[in-house]
Amino acid sequence: MRDRSGESGFPIKPVYDESDLPPGLAERLGAPGAYPYTRGVYPTMYTTRPWTMRQYAGFGTAAESNARYHALLAAGTMGLSVAFDLPTQMGYDSDEPIAHGEVGKVGVAIDSIDDMRLLFGGIPLDKVSTSMTINAPGSVLLLLYQLVAEENGIPGSALNGTIQNDILKEYIARGTYIFPPKPSLRLVADTFAYCRKETPKWNTISISGYHMAEAGATPVQEVAFTLANGVEYVRAAIEAGLAVDDFAPRLSFFFVARTTLLEEVAKFRAARRIWAGLMRDEFGATDPKSLMLRFHTQTAGVQLTAQQPEVNLIRVAVQALGAVLGGTQSLHTNSYDEAIALPTEKAARLALRTQQVLAHETDLTATVDPFAGSYVVEAMTDEIERGARELIDRVFAFGSSVAAIEAGFQKREIEASAYRTAQEIDAGDRVVVGVNRFATDTEEPYEPLRVDPAIEAAQAERLARLRAERDGDAVTRALSTLRDAAAGTENVLYPMREALRARATVGEVCHALRDVWGTYRPSETF
Ligand code: 3HC
Repeated sequence: MRDRSGESGFPIKPVYDESDLPPGLAERLGAPGAYPYTRGVYPTMYTTRPWTMRQYAGFGTAAESNARYHALLAAGTMGLSVAFDLPTQMGYDSDEPIAHGEVGKVGVAIDSIDDMRLLFGGIPLDKVSTSMTINAPGSVLLLLYQLVAEENGIPGSALNGTIQNDILKEYIARGTYIFPPKPSLRLVADTFAYCRKETPKWNTISISGYHMAEAGATPVQEVAFTLANGVEYVRAAIEAGLAVDDFAPRLSFFFVARTTLLEEVAKFRAARRIWAGLMRDEFGATDPKSLMLRFHTQTAGVQLTAQQPEVNLIRVAVQALGAVLGGTQSLHTNSYDEAIALPTEKAARLALRTQQVLAHETDLTATVDPFAGSYVVEAMTDEIERGARELIDRVFAFGSSVAAIEAGFQKREIEASAYRTAQEIDAGDRVVVGVNRFATDTEEPYEPLRVDPAIEAAQAERLARLRAERDGDAVTRALSTLRDAAAGTENVLYPMREALRARATVGEVCHALRDVWGTYRPSETF
């Protein structure tokens, strides 16, 4: 029998046995909910509470997305997850020329507090937890969420949720950055400090490996580059004067789940163990919550196929199984039609039902970390831990994750992996069912969901009305105060909140910060 290799490149043996488990396994494992958290962050994990079924959704206008959220809550989703359109993610208003053609397309258009009110209309913000996939303007959307909650009598202390707020991976893989690294890290540190005081149950960042994985990163690269970015944020917050145990408990993470189930289970377990060690040994964190790597998982979008799309139902189920066996806290399952277009309501419901079958019809929630002690999974966990630690050291050989990013290191490494995968698929060495093997020449007709292009005009009209109705002088003063704070050392979230309360738009707030901090230009060194 030939050895296969895993996605991370190490060989997968046809048979594993006792000899593959070096001594000291009990110490490397620890108990569930105890250092180094290899077996999971909570002692009881899903035996007392299943993971959060948190389906990423959002498109078109705030009203349309609000309807989808109500439908998802009615169908049993346990947490909300907001997708924003690109203009919002890039800090532009819907009526700016640069936004043309993108308004409401890959997510919901949010320009002001007026839109945020519509987005969460009728949803009890003290009863749900809401994730917002927003990075450069993450603090702006958090403040809008808090202002809308406040209008409904809900204090910041009652708010549960997460902003992705992970600007470093945007420089590496996703691209929705605005400001250069230094002011961006200052804004992240300001957000940590603000949330500790104003919204203490809010997860301030979702340090993401998902998008790097989707760009081609291997599991080892995904873990290493994500945790290296995590270290960078911790260092920035400490340099800003924060104590590690004051903000680390509210850091969170986000990884992909690929179809290669065994290696993915090992990846999650290795990531928990590495992070616990880094936080205890490098930063001296003592609060157990500072050592716990809590994460969200999304099944691998890049592994969905447009050919025979129903086959994606099986891929997503296997990927979701891997995330659950790996101990995820929150999970998004992709819809089978997403390789073609925005998911239809039926496809979105099927994606959620996949999680509900795993949670309620299998025995996965009966016991914690079922793979513990498995020769192959423990050997893979050790292998991924070793590879990731080595790669983290290579990142920090540049001096910092930012320095490595500016040298193009992570991007180059990921592109090389992506190229290898593409070559393997083209050569047929890597099977993609329905694409390079078991293909059919007849495809059933599929009617994708389309976003109404008229929403761009509707959003522009809403903005015109808002600007006519609001106290323009108050907005001008508030934005000037924000610029002063950005030029100084004061926490910018306080003046930002008052500008948004006065109905300044997302674009106006981000332009005020651009005026002071400038915008990031990637160096073309590679
Ligand atoms: N024992 C004890 N307590 C438990 C428990 C157990 N077994 N299970 C849960 N709990 C407690 C937790 O401690 C927590 O309480 P706390 O907040 O007071 O600590 C509460 O119950 C909720 O549990 P979790 O925090 O584990 O679960 P959440 O779902 O609330 O949070 C998270 C999970 C990962 C920490 C959080 O950051 C999160 O929800 N992240 C989601 C991120 C997300 O959805 N991202 C989408 C990205 S999509 C994207 O990027 C775009 C696309 O292109 C991919």
